[in-house]
Amino acid sequence: MAAESPARAELGARSAGAFRARYRIALIPGDGIGQEVCPAARAVLDAAGRRHGIRFDYDEFDWSCARYLSEGAMMPADGLDRVRGHDALLLGAVGDPSVADHVSLWGLLIPIRRQFQQYVNLRPIKIFEGAPGPLRNAAAGEVDLVVVRENTEGEYSEIGGRFGRGTAAETAVQEAVFTRAGVSRIADFAFRLAARRGGGVTSATKSNGIVHTMPFWDEVVGERAAAYPEVSWRSEHIDALCAKLVLDPARFDVIVASNLFGDILSDLAAAVAGSIGMAPSANLNPEREFPSLFEPVHGSAPDIAGRGVANPIGAIWTAAMMLEHLDHAEAATEVTDAIAQVLRDGEVRTPDLGGKSTTAEFTAAVVDAVSGPTGP
Ligand code: NAI
Ligand code: MG
Repeated sequence: MAAESPARAELGARSAGAFRARYRIALIPGDGIGQEVCPAARAVLDAAGRRHGIRFDYDEFDWSCARYLSEGAMMPADGLDRVRGHDALLLGAVGDPSVADHVSLWGLLIPIRRQFQQYVNLRPIKIFEGAPGPLRNAAAGEVDLVVVRENTEGEYSEIGGRFGRGTAAETAVQEAVFTRAGVSRIADFAFRLAARRGGGVTSATKSNGIVHTMPFWDEVVGERAAAYPEVSWRSEHIDALCAKLVLDPARFDVIVASNLFGDILSDLAAAVAGSIGMAPSANLNPEREFPSLFEPVHGSAPDIAGRGVANPIGAIWTAAMMLEHLDHAEAATEVTDAIAQVLRDGEVRTPDLGGKSTTAEFTAAVVDAVSGPTGP
């Protein structure tokens, strides 16, 4: 964040509505319901900002499949340079049935994650009172876990190729890439997070079947674990781990996983919590050399887009993660508490949670809860 100018400091000293922090946010609503949940996140951020003296200035970018269809690219060639100087990136969702999904993903999100070294994909999962999950044994208050997904290497590599196209011998090869630096830093992040939460770490592996990269993953995670003797940890095979996540989700706290395993686990965990529309995520560059990217887990949901009924909880909780990353933990907690309060009150909820409310109605209820009785 740029330092405040003397004029601004003076203004701040004199005016009652002074703000103590100011951020420039790159807003990328994207496609489908991304366009509907981004304004919700923004309204709640602004409400939290008013209470805590934080001002957000937004620059909106039209990067999307719609742009791809009219201009031939998801974002301009110098897109990353245009957002490099922002304090954070807030994204809705991208994807459209008329554009291949690998084109939209590799044309926008993957370049941002890699170029900006957002090597942690953080996906918290909670069951809220008033929004029960589909599992009998997953109670509100008991299920509270975080998937820490490696976000820049692993199975999602560009190394490989195809040959003998169209022949009976046609062959495709894709190489997974695991580096000591990459595994160490994601493991360190997971152990530090577990230490802060007072919980333990489960490391997802498959070292019985994948004989080179997964024993290496286990070895490096084990080495890093030694630096955090206060944090308990165990390693579990991904197949058994999936089963346990359904049978007994309350036993997990921090789950650390490779790019592919983490992707699958976090959707599974989101389903355990009730609706994918509620799941948030942060793509973090923990060193803050580059901006981090905040986005709900869900996609553009073309099946419900344009009707104003998307659940905005994923996007609003994502905004809370952004507040926390910007060092406003108290404001972040107020936002998640407001979501919990509206769900607990039970009157306002979107159709995916069995209600009849619109995105705008749910958002207004959260804004009211954040603002409090004496709010603006
Ligand atoms: P999706 O998450 O868009 O939708 C899956 C199902 O969940 C749909 O039935 C949808 O209506 C429902 N749903 C999702 N979010 C919801 C919300 N906030 N409120 C209520 N219901 C919600 O996943 P899908 O259908 O696999 O993908 C659709 C498009 O989105 C594809 O083009 C895909 O590539 C893209 N996508 C983009 C992502 C991103 O931008 N990060 C992530 C996942 C998918
Ligand atoms: Mg996914």
